[in-house]
Amino acid sequence: MSENRSLVSIAGLTREKILYLMEMASEFERHPNRKILDGRVVATLFFEPSTRTRLSFETAANRLGARVIGFADPKITSGTKGETLKDTIMMVSNYSDVIVMRHYLEGAALYASELSPVPIVNAGDGAHQHPSQTLLDLYTIIQTQGTLENLNIYLVGDLKYGRTVHSLIMAMRHFNPTFHFIAPKELAMPEEYKQYCDEHGIRYVEHEDFNEDVIAGADILYMTRVQRERFSDLMEYERVKDVYVLNAAMLSKAKPNMRILHPLPRVNEIAQDVDNTPYAYYFEQARNGLYAREAIICDVLGITLEDIKK
Ligand code: CP
Repeated sequence: MSENRSLVSIAGLTREKILYLMEMASEFERHPNRKILDGRVVATLFFEPSTRTRLSFETAANRLGARVIGFADPKITSGTKGETLKDTIMMVSNYSDVIVMRHYLEGAALYASELSPVPIVNAGDGAHQHPSQTLLDLYTIIQTQGTLENLNIYLVGDLKYGRTVHSLIMAMRHFNPTFHFIAPKELAMPEEYKQYCDEHGIRYVEHEDFNEDVIAGADILYMTRVQRERFSDLMEYERVKDVYVLNAAMLSKAKPNMRILHPLPRVNEIAQDVDNTPYAYYFEQARNGLYAREAIICDVLGITLEDIKK
């Protein structure tokens, strides 16, 4: 968290802070309805489409007793008249106690946090970071594996534009993971994240093959959507969009406790027949977003684990 308690990037969170937020999320899973934000206002500003992130943040605020203002579509705002992001943030901070923002520009959340008098929660900035997704991913990994330590995590699909995988790598640096990056060349993990791994002693292996023998080594198989909206050349999107499709037959050699995660939405990278296998965990993962986001809203407002247990 930065000085004003904003959550902009997962990179700023210590191991202790991550584990503390996990404990807080667990407390909210036990009791999601607690009226500890009575009188507070949470603003949700979504400059890009969203289903899960916006609705789970708004559900979190509602279950904590706060009121919610905001927009799901920037076309209905004065941004269409030329109002800047700076002026929008300054206005909304007049009306709210915390601003949850998704924006298509990398760095938009950091910029907003530097000028906003109220905390900013980054709900995704371009292909850069998605820290609240990462906290719910970590919570889900603990829930399914019993630990964050020493896991084999396989990241599959769009590793170039997928902000969730970028944030997950950074968060896992505290827990001795081995990553496998499975992507076609066009969507390979960017050099800056591989360099991050090297600098932080994170092991990683790169593959282009995706089959049952590769999957056999995974504790977590983290599937991602090819992000059409980030391509400037749609022909290139068409070339790579169906390169990896996971189906139930490909799970024949999976470890019994392996679980498949996906930040969602999926397009066709996970076949419907996977949903009925014991490995599928993406809908439960999305449910965990509520508990993780209750913890995040409280934390940026300075409400502690002790406060919520009272
Ligand atoms: N995982 C995620 O960010 O989903 P939405 O785009 O629906 O918010």
